Formats: sequence, structure tokens, C-alpha cells
Amino acid sequence: MPRTLFVTTALPYANAPFHVGHMMEYIQADIWVRFQRMQGNTVHFVCADDAHGAPIMIAAEKAGKTPQAFVAEIAAGRQQYLDGFHIGFDNWHSTDGAENHELAKEIYLALRRNELIATKTIEQFFDPVKSMFLPDRYIKGECPKCGAKDQYGDSCEVCGAVYSPTELKNPYSTLTGATPVMKSSEHYFVKLSDPRCVAFLEDWTAKVGLQAEVLNKIKEWFAKDEDGHGGLGDWDISRDAPYFGIEIPDAPGKYFYVWLDAPIGYLASLKNYCGKAGLDFDALMADPATEQYHFIGKDITYFHTLFWPAMLHFSGRKTPTNVFVHGFITVKEEKMSKSRGTGISPLKYLELGMNAEWLRYYIAAKLNAKVEDIDFNPDDFVARVNSDLVGKYINIASRAAGFLVKQFGGRMGDTTGELDTIVATVRGQKNDVAALFDQREFAKALRLVMELADKVNGYYDSAEPWKLAKQGPAELARLQRVCSNVIECFRLLTIYLSPVVPALSIDAQKFLKVGPLRWSDADTDLVAAGHTIGAYTHLMQRVDPQQLEALFAPAVVELPPPGGEPLAAEIKIDDFAKVDLRIAKIVNAELVEGSTKLLRLTLDVGEGRTRNVFSGIQSAYTPADLIGKHTVVVANLAPRKMKFGLSEGMVLAASHADEKAQPGLFVLEPHAGAVPGMRVR
Ligand code: MSP
Ligand code: ZN
Repeated sequence: MPRTLFVTTALPYANAPFHVGHMMEYIQADIWVRFQRMQGNTVHFVCADDAHGAPIMIAAEKAGKTPQAFVAEIAAGRQQYLDGFHIGFDNWHSTDGAENHELAKEIYLALRRNELIATKTIEQFFDPVKSMFLPDRYIKGECPKCGAKDQYGDSCEVCGAVYSPTELKNPYSTLTGATPVMKSSEHYFVKLSDPRCVAFLEDWTAKVGLQAEVLNKIKEWFAKDEDGHGGLGDWDISRDAPYFGIEIPDAPGKYFYVWLDAPIGYLASLKNYCGKAGLDFDALMADPATEQYHFIGKDITYFHTLFWPAMLHFSGRKTPTNVFVHGFITVKEEKMSKSRGTGISPLKYLELGMNAEWLRYYIAAKLNAKVEDIDFNPDDFVARVNSDLVGKYINIASRAAGFLVKQFGGRMGDTTGELDTIVATVRGQKNDVAALFDQREFAKALRLVMELADKVNGYYDSAEPWKLAKQGPAELARLQRVCSNVIECFRLLTIYLSPVVPALSIDAQKFLKVGPLRWSDADTDLVAAGHTIGAYTHLMQRVDPQQLEALFAPAVVELPPPGGEPLAAEIKIDDFAKVDLRIAKIVNAELVEGSTKLLRLTLDVGEGRTRNVFSGIQSAYTPADLIGKHTVVVANLAPRKMKFGLSEGMVLAASHADEKAQPGLFVLEPHAGAVPGMRVR
């Protein structure tokens, strides 16, 4: 029976482009989703931007934009990554969408009807300059223990002490520098400590089949000390205005804390998708057969295994079938900061023309079902892609296709019922490979597939087709059969690799003249069908290690040309000597009637007479600014007859090529001591 699955990845904060950590999560989920679809299951795979919260509001303000415009800009940049890495979400939405506003309120009101909402007045730091309550991350001060300056409100980076923000000495707001004051306000809470919640969560977390590491964490969160302290605390879900979020019903000036409405965004994106796809959202989510899975990183386990299932359950909704938690990706063993991705830029990877499926394959080859961190190592990357994916799998097709196409017009040998055991061997692993994909044991699945590829290559080598090709008709039949077997194995391996390398799989299917491939296609023989394959064109390049060097090379900042224009062509000293520059004294300056640009200058160049020069500097100078000052003039420039009279030289002034980009016009003035007539050289 085909299943119906609703699958999500965590909703990324809409304050930055994707980093490789996001891509890793999407690749993991996408592989699993593609695998499920190949099984004939229906999957609704959605994500959205997590738009709300104080940091995004503040970032938008700094950028001089409304939060809506700010997140819209981030959202507009998403698709190129998703397309580039073949991430097949059915929908991308936003937690600021109408569906989410509606659903968040519905769920909240249901919790309230269930008497799981309480209010409590709490005291918090308040920035009197900005008139807003300060999230902890915007408060710094001196460590209460060692006195180190500029420490955050939770712990000291110098001595390691752990404390609360109120314990900081001389605290200040990092937003304004102001000294925060304590101010009280009413907050809304979800009563997670309610015995009904505790009982539900103990049951739910024990039965859904969470990963062992996740269960251990949850045990810690449930645990109380001997005095009965600890355990699940009530959850503060309100924030006071100003806040970018969803207003709480019947609570003017109060907004849902971003983590209340963020996971509801999963449902909102699905609902938005259902609207577009003509599906019945309510029916889908009311159907007990619909399975619901969330792929997330380890840092947000608490929200997804406690808050989220409780919110769903006590608002009368379906709870997650499971939550799949992954570790973090590091790059060359270096941790990546959450907001500012370091190490590898996914966009640069694509722009360098690197194949997205190398990364998909490499990440898959490292992932298992545990909450383990993985590392991107450039040498390892080259080795896995070149020697496994290309060297083993692609190699199979390129070896066998040549003989088959050249000698037999691409027709598979007629060997009905006579397949060699190599085909049976590869086919025999069909269920094992499937089980590993289903369990998210991708590294093991790929290891198994590569072992099979080794066997196929071994079979080809020992059959020595290059010798068969040179012998008589009996051997030719054998040659056709060997190559047919190898191509059939290649088709099976393509099925097994399809979730990981979907675009490569499509190219392979074109070459094989089959598809679209499902997992069950592994049961039917291509050979028996007397099938004809297409011509082989190379399916995948190897990684060039130089591409990785380029990927890791620090970004070259492209400087604009100095002053907005490239330097003029090179000249010789003699060329320069032709220009006679002299010190001039501006003995008079006046406006020119009928001109808004020119000033008329009377210059003393030490010649016992004065010169008349028109200069286009009226926008920057009044006559009074200039009279009595010294400057530099091109003294041997041919006199030029202008509408207003004769101009006998040119005064030197500096300006940017693009006056709009960098306005201003600056007449040159020599250091004190220079007198009229001196040559400038
Ligand atoms: N907005 C929240 C999630 C809300 S879900 C209702 C959030 N956003 S995030 O952008 O910080 O992270 C999104 C996902 O990326 C999370 O699952 C997070 O664990 C994951 N990762 C962030 N850095 C990562 C790595 N270095 N490696 C792998 N995944 C990483 O949290
Ligand atoms: Zn300290």
C-alpha cells in the first residue's frame, strides 16, 4: 500500500543566504524523499522562511528596510540554491504568510480552551532609548566573577562562569549603548509543566522511535533533582511590541515569540501548497494514515521533540510520526557559525561550475542515522567522487557501452533466462539498499552500492571482452551477453543511486532508454526485453582538485578603478615634459553672466601680465573662495576662443569620474612658498 508522507526540513531564519549546513540538511531530506517517491509513496515535501523575531526586525532596521521587504529579499535568493542542488521541495513559503497567522492563532486559542495558557508578570531588561525589551543576546556587561568586560548575559568567555543577564555588572544594551533598566510586563506561557503535558510527552517521546542520543537528551530535560526542581518548565511564548511577529489574540501589544509560530510554519507551507495543488489540507492532516516527518539539526531538538508535539496534541492535531535529527557539518574540522556560514559558499561552488551531485554524493557518503557531526574534507571529497562515483559506477557504463553500441547497434543480447549471476548479485541487494535508505543510513547504502560496482567491474575484467571482440561468432555472442549483463547491472545501480544523484540518473536513463525509474524496476530484466540502448556520452566529469582550491581561495575583492576610471595609456617622460604646468595666483575671480558653470579667473603666472582663464568650477566655488589663492595651470595650452571670450590656459582640479557616485570638485593648491611662474614637474 503506498503511503502518504508529509516531510519538512527546518525553516531557515530569513536573515542570511543559505550556508553549507542548510544545504546538508536539505540534501539529507531530499535523498530520503526521492527514495520514498521511488517506492511509490506520495510525499509532500515543504519548507519556508522563518521570518519573525527580534534579530530579523533589528537587521531590517539597520538595513533601512521594513522587515517584510527585508525577508522578501532573502526569500528571492533561495531558489537558485534549491535548483542548483536539485532540492525538490514542493513548496517554499514564509512564516509571515497569511496561513501561518491564521494557524498560529487557531492553535493558540485551542491551547487556551484547553486551559494550557497562563499569564505571569516578569521583570526583564528594557532599553530605555529604544523603548524595547532586550533579548539576552543584546545585553553585555562585565563578568560578575572575574570582571572581564564586554561579556554576554549568559556566560563569560574569559573565566567560563555561567550566570543570568541580571547578574552582569555595568550592563549595557548593544543596540544603543544605554544602561538597561528592569521593567516588568505580563507574559503568556504554555503550561508545559501541567501533568497532562508531562504525561503526554513522556508517552510520545518513548513511542515514536526517536534516535537514542535524542532520547538521552530528553531524559535529561525531564529529570528533576532530589528537591523536585528542574523538569519541564512553562514556556514563555509572548514578546512585547515592538516585535516582528504575529499578534496574540485578545492581547494588544503582545506577539507570539518566534519559536511559537515557526514550526506552525510547516503546516502553513503545506496548507499553502495544498491550495495551489488542489489538495484538501484539513482532510490530509485529519487522515490518521498521513505520516509526518521533520528533518532538523541537533541544536533545535528541544523545540521539536517537546514544544511542538505538545502544541499539536493539545490543539487536537496530528503529532509528528518522527523527528529525524542530524549533526552539524564542519568544513576542514572548523565549526561554522550559525548565522555567518564559513568554509564553503554553496553559491560559489555552483558558480565555479562544480557539479552539485558531487556534493550530494559526498554528503550522502558521510551521513548515517545518528546525531553525528560530519566533516567536509577536500582530499576526501576528491577521492570519494573520483574513485567511487566516477571510477566505479560511471566506469561501468563507459566500458560496456562501447562494444554494445559499435558491434551490436546497442541491442542487448537475447539471453532470456540466462542472466549471469552478476545480475542476480546486484539485484539481490535491492531490499538491503532500500532498507538502508529508509533508515537514513546513507553511508552504508552507498558502501553497499560501491561494493556491487566493484563486483561488476571485476566481472567485466575477468570476462576479458576486448579478447572476445577479436574472436569468432561464438565469442561475439558471448561478448554481447557480457556487455548486456554489465549494462543491466548499471541500470540496477542507477536505480540504487537515483535518490542521491537525480540529474545524473536522468542522463543515465536517457542513455539506457528507460525511465522514469522506480525501485520496483529492479525486478524486471532489461535484457529479457531485447532492449536497445542509446549511444554513450560521458555522464560525469571527475573533480579537478584545482576546483577545490578555487572553492577555498579567499574571495578576491574587486576594487573599482581609482577615481572611477581606469588609468590612461602609459606615456614616456618626454610626453609629460610637453605639458608645461605653472604656479598661478588667482588675482581675481568672478561669475560669468549667462553661464551657470563657469567662473572667469584672472591669473598671474609670473609673466608681467595676467591671463584670462574660464574654468568650469562654479558648482564648487564662489569667487570669494578663490581670490588670492595659488593654484596650478596648464600654461602652454593653445588659447581657446569661447562664447564669453578667450581662455588662456586651464586650471587643474580633481574630481571622480562619476560625479553622482562621489560628488565634489577640488582645485589644486600648492604648499605654501610656491610663487607664480614656478614650473610644476
Ligand atoms: N529558524 C530556526 C528553525 C525553525 S524550524 C521551525 C533555525 N534556523 S537556522 O537557519 O539557524 O537553521 C536551520 C537548520 O539548519 C537547522 O536544522 C540547523 O540545525 C541547521 N544547521 C545550521 N548549521 C548547521 C551545520 N553547520 N550543519 C548542519 N546543519 C546545520 O534554527
Ligand atoms: Zn569571567
